[in-house]
Amino acid sequence: MTANANSDNPLLEFIGVHAHYGPVEALKSVNVHIAKGEIVSLIGANGAGKTTLLSTIFGAPRASSGKVMHKGEDISLLPTNRISRRGIALVPEGRQIYPDMSVEENMMMGTTPIGTTHFDEDRTQMFELFPRLKERWRSRAP
Ligand SMILES: Nc1ncnc2c1ncn2[C@@H]1O[C@H](COP(=O)(O)OP(=O)(O)O)[C@@H](O)[C@H]1O
Ligand SMILES: [Mg+2]
Repeated sequence: MTANANSDNPLLEFIGVHAHYGPVEALKSVNVHIAKGEIVSLIGANGAGKTTLLSTIFGAPRASSGKVMHKGEDISLLPTNRISRRGIALVPEGRQIYPDMSVEENMMMGTTPIGTTHFDEDRTQMFELFPRLKERWRSRAP
């Protein structure tokens, strides 16, 4: 995959990122600059490397060359938990949940990196949008 977008003061930046799965080169010199407040869509055919690009932010797979920068710092080699604590979150495609945990615990997982300051407020809003969540709050997730 190759991609280019420009902005002056990037919040998140991919600089010449290559990524491999064993011998398979999934990303080839990707350059993307995303500014604060900017919403960026990544569009491409199946197998183009969209998921891989997002996954390299968290180091799975790591960029085999090039850099992933967040707020001007190279995060390419940081452990995933430290990347997460910077407030970066990845919502995976599909409908995966933690089946052995309750609905509540599953939702709490999304708050872990940045704390629970707004959780009660957000939960109230979610209950309004999805009333079934409130009914099943303490149930196991599946
Ligand atoms: N876990 C994996 N192991 C080996 N090859 C993979 C793996 N995941 C993706 N690929 C390959 O990497 C390339 C990019 O895939 P992917 O990032 O999933 O594309 P997209 O999300 O755009 O459909 C494809 O050639 C795909 O077959
Ligand atoms: Mg994908």
